[in-house]
Amino acid sequence: MTNKIFHPYTPFSSIENGFPNIVRGEGIYLYDDTGKKYVDIVSSWWACALGHSHPKVVKAIQDQAAVLQHSITGSLTHPNVLALAERLADLMPTPDRHTVFASDGCSAVEASLKIAVQYWYNIGRPEKTWLIGMDQGYHGDSLGALGVGFVDGFHKPYEKVTQHPAKLPLPVSTSDDPDGFEPGRKVIEQHADKLAAVIVEPLCQGSAGMQMYPVGYLKKLADCCAENDVLLIIDEVAMGFGRTGKRFAFNHAGIDPDIVCMGKGLTAGYMPLSAAVIKDKLYNTFSDQGEKDCTFYHGNTYAGHPIGCAAALAALDIYEAESTVERGAEMAEKMKQWMQPFAEMDCVKELRFLGMIGVVELKPEAKAQVPEIKAKLFKDGYLFRPLGTIFYLMPPLVIGDDELKGAVYALQQAIEEFC
Ligand SMILES: Cc1ncc(COP(=O)(O)O)c(C=O)c1O
Repeated sequence: MTNKIFHPYTPFSSIENGFPNIVRGEGIYLYDDTGKKYVDIVSSWWACALGHSHPKVVKAIQDQAAVLQHSITGSLTHPNVLALAERLADLMPTPDRHTVFASDGCSAVEASLKIAVQYWYNIGRPEKTWLIGMDQGYHGDSLGALGVGFVDGFHKPYEKVTQHPAKLPLPVSTSDDPDGFEPGRKVIEQHADKLAAVIVEPLCQGSAGMQMYPVGYLKKLADCCAENDVLLIIDEVAMGFGRTGKRFAFNHAGIDPDIVCMGKGLTAGYMPLSAAVIKDKLYNTFSDQGEKDCTFYHGNTYAGHPIGCAAALAALDIYEAESTVERGAEMAEKMKQWMQPFAEMDCVKELRFLGMIGVVELKPEAKAQVPEIKAKLFKDGYLFRPLGTIFYLMPPLVIGDDELKGAVYALQQAIEEFC
């Protein structure tokens, strides 16, 4: 069969050899059409926290598809979306929230950015329109998301069509400023009169290469935003639902964000569904009863899709019933121990850990070996997706001891062979 797919994030030079044709998933494994199995070490782009084919999610999807496959949430509602909005509000520090549903991470981010801008318009401060993120942040590939998150290595062609009025500098710890927040504080204070919102990936900039920063930064950022009348949007699309050892990464900092974006783990990767959970302080300003119409004229066809919501409700039940987050946190400790031998390797620049994210960054001179290491791992049945010289493990949270040890060992062997 010819290949007519425009594969995302896929160099053309890799296309001619063809790709595995994945036909089945079960647990932490994906199977191709020859029967070969692969450990899904990146949880299918960080989404499949519960692994593949969990019978309870599959059943929830099947049952819902048989009853109501789609109905919109514009001036209509349905039981699943009502239940899910309630559940999400209850997961927040306080339940005074409403949820905008969308279909994937970047569409939740887009909604959150527009809500932030319109909030200031609604309350009579229309000059507050700037939306900023952290240098090398990533919030999806739509143009709005690129305006607040821009990874130089990926997004250069779009530089001139995206606007970055300012950026939070990358946090750099110093002895005077261990959390590395003070340069960010300056940016916020300087532009507070124009800033609508700041958006960040909490504790770990994933696409920038799993770059982690201190909990204290997040706490100071939240305080600074509140002091300067700037909304704080926390993008939990990648980190949410247990990846960092708590349900949400922002929980580590004990903060209460104005808007929280979720995707990926919301349905454990079973259906495209995302959400922006909004504080009622913002929601309540979207009235059409005042002098101006403040209706939120924004929506996606599949916002609150009934089957997506059924998958999310089932996933949330499983996270609770199987203590997935707590189990993941325990597993994370083991992963960290098992990965310590990498620190002894000459070609390794740094190890980094945050919950169930384990990173081995190779020295820049090992760049040429990355494709060979990746190919060996692939041959051995491990689907790694390095970012530059950064190999990372971000497996389903349900991975077992032996499977995780096996993946760590496979990476160690592959690096040893080529570096
Ligand atoms: C932090 C973050 N936000 C948003 C997105 C975009 O999500 P999606 O690819 O579902 O649009 C991603 C995707 O990796 C992400 O890591």
